[in-house]
Amino acid sequence: MTQNIKPEFIPNRGAGKQLYIETYGCQMNRGDSEVVVSILSEYGYQYAEDIAQADVILVNTCSVRDNAEQRIWGRLNEFKIHKKRKPSLLIGVIGCMAERLKDELIEREPIVDVVAGPDAYRDLPRLLSDAASGARGVNVMLSREETYAEISPIRLDKNGVSAFVSIMRGCDNMCSYCVVPFTRGRERSRDPQTIMSEVKDLFARGYREVTLLGQNVNSYKYGEIGFPELMAMVAEVSPLLRVRFATSHPKDLSDRLIECIASHPNICRAIHLPAQSGSTRMLELMNRKYTRQWYLDRIAAIKRAIPDCAITTDLIAGFCTETEDDHQDTLSLMNEVGYASAFMFKYSERPQAYAARKMVDDIPEQEKIRRLNEIIELQTNLSLENNRRDVGKEFEVLIEGESKRDKEYLCGRTSQNKMAVFPGKGYKAGDYVKVYVDDCSAATLIAHIVE
Ligand code: SAH
Ligand code: SF4
Ligand code: F3S
Repeated sequence: MTQNIKPEFIPNRGAGKQLYIETYGCQMNRGDSEVVVSILSEYGYQYAEDIAQADVILVNTCSVRDNAEQRIWGRLNEFKIHKKRKPSLLIGVIGCMAERLKDELIEREPIVDVVAGPDAYRDLPRLLSDAASGARGVNVMLSREETYAEISPIRLDKNGVSAFVSIMRGCDNMCSYCVVPFTRGRERSRDPQTIMSEVKDLFARGYREVTLLGQNVNSYKYGEIGFPELMAMVAEVSPLLRVRFATSHPKDLSDRLIECIASHPNICRAIHLPAQSGSTRMLELMNRKYTRQWYLDRIAAIKRAIPDCAITTDLIAGFCTETEDDHQDTLSLMNEVGYASAFMFKYSERPQAYAARKMVDDIPEQEKIRRLNEIIELQTNLSLENNRRDVGKEFEVLIEGESKRDKEYLCGRTSQNKMAVFPGKGYKAGDYVKVYVDDCSAATLIAHIVE
């Protein structure tokens, strides 16, 4: 396998070359970019924050919707000025779009030198070295084992307080609209010992929050250790370490997992549980493997065991054959659950996915937009209502740093993952404070410190 190539066999090493990396898509990609920088730094590449300094530009891409890909094509076009300025500059496309389009990327876009899929990052030093000698290279082999388990990611998010820890890769769910199983390959879980040592190291370095990441994080399974066991182990590293996770599939949201969250105060009171639709008929066509009623029963179970839990979701408007009644079911589901926030999308047909092969993308664009706008408008109201219920209450907040809008204010999140801003002289990132919420918008809690 190419993965065990030793540095001495790679002739043109990175020595001192400046590596710039741009990341699109989900949190998994953000975690992966940190792995990529770690792998390449072993070969002498130096991470650069300024694209103008770059000898190598990597763009870590997303394929989940067509507009995500269009954005990357546009970006590649913009890189041309850098290549004109510095002809030795190498450009690599990595991640999901690399996996989906493979050689087509190199054929369509002459400025692309290297294409590497999500399981091929250990091969990047060789691919870049070959490209430096003029051989454009592609590696899009998917793996059943690769979890980059022992690689220590180099943290690119500089807040020094919260970090992503990837615990599983791939997805076996095959939702009919989704390209991810084709870009990320089969599900596999990372060795818990390597997860634990990464988490302990982060805590020792001052980090106070970890987000356990996977496309389908609650199907984690490594020998006898399932997701609740792993979360409990991570939560027990220290009561001062907050634990979050993303993203969970409703079908795997077990009572054991709910109990595990309820019994560990430092596992955050926030569950992202993508519903996609409120219509059982749509859920079946989407191959989500649950009904509306079953989903609502899970929500009821969460609310019973963890009354202060914020629930958030993903929703798709205008999937194949969706009727006005189906759409109304989504709106009524949103009202019933009372989501704290949501990511909302209109259906975008993805060539490899089952729906693109077997169903007709028959909802007109204008109608998709109308339904999506209704969903967004309702969610804005729900978010505001949800935040208003927090006004007059106290929350513990982990400070992340200065507020972006006003440097006099600090910002941090509540356990429910809501952003709070407050005046905070004398406090710093990584401190826990108790705040009292005075006011809110649909996106933010406005507060002051009480202790
Ligand atoms: N594995 C995660 C997230 C997958 S991608 C999960 O299943 O929850 C993130 C979100 O993108 C999905 O939850 C879905 O709402 C949306 N999505 C995926 N494919 C899509 C498509 N073809 N069109 C529109 N939205 C899509
Ligand atoms: Fe896509 Fe479904 Fe897997 Fe999520 S669970 S990544 S939506 S196939
Ligand atoms: Fe996009 Fe790939 Fe994530 S398609 S959403 S970057 S898994």
